[in-house]
Amino acid sequence: MKNETLATLLSRHSLGGKHLGEPGPDEAALRQMAEAALHAPDHAGLVPFRFALVRGAARQRMAALFETAALAAGKAADDARLDAERALRPPLTVAVLARIDLGHPVVPAHEQWAAVGGAITNFLNAAHALGFAGKMLSGHKVRHPAIQAAFCESGETLAGWISLGTPVRAPSAGHAKAGVEQVLRDWR
Ligand SMILES: Cc1cc2nc3c(=O)[nH]c(=O)nc-3n(C[C@H](O)[C@H](O)[C@H](O)COP(=O)(O)O)c2cc1C
Repeated sequence: MKNETLATLLSRHSLGGKHLGEPGPDEAALRQMAEAALHAPDHAGLVPFRFALVRGAARQRMAALFETAALAAGKAADDARLDAERALRPPLTVAVLARIDLGHPVVPAHEQWAAVGGAITNFLNAAHALGFAGKMLSGHKVRHPAIQAAFCESGETLAGWISLGTPVRAPSAGHAKAGVEQVLRDWR
C-alpha cells in the first residue's frame, strides 16, 4: 500500500543555498513548519529551541558578520567576501537557537539536545512537504563571539542556520544513505 506521508519523509534531502531559488516559505508556511517542530518529542515539554528568521535588512547584517568571522578564522579577503555572498543566496535563512538547562532535575542535557534535533528535523520535513528545500549548516561561525552575541539571548547556544527556498534541482545521484541493517538490529 502506498503511504504518501512516508513517501514524503523518504524523499527529503538537503539542498544548499546555490540550489535554492525564490520563493522562500511565506509566513503561513513558516508557521506550519514551526508547528511541526513543536510536535517533535520533547521530554517534560521544555521547548529547548527557537527559530530566528533572518529577513529584510537583517540579511545584510548577517552577511557582514559572516565576513568578519571568516576573516577572523584566517580566510583571505576574497574568500571572506564569498562567505558573505553565499549567506545572501538562499531566499530565507533561519537561525536555530537552543536553550539547554544543564541543571534540570529530570531531563539531562543530551535529552534536551535530542529534542532540538527532533525540532530541526520536523521543521525541515515540513518544509519539504510544502514543496521547499533547505539545509542545516553550522561550521566555525557558530563559535565566533560577535555572531553568538548577535544571535543568542542569555543562556542560548547557536546551533546553526537553516537555508530555505524552492529547490532548483533534484538531489545529486551520489546521495546515498546508510542501509537499514546498520541501524536496526535485535537486542540480545
Ligand atoms: C546541527 C547540524 C549542523 C550541521 N552543520 C553542517 C555544516 O556545517 N556543514 C555541512 O556540510 N553539513 C552540515 N550538516 C549536515 C547537513 O545539514 C545535511 O544533513 C547533510 O549534508 C546530509 O544531507 P541530507 O540531509 O540530504 O542527508 C549539519 C546537520 C545538523 C543536524
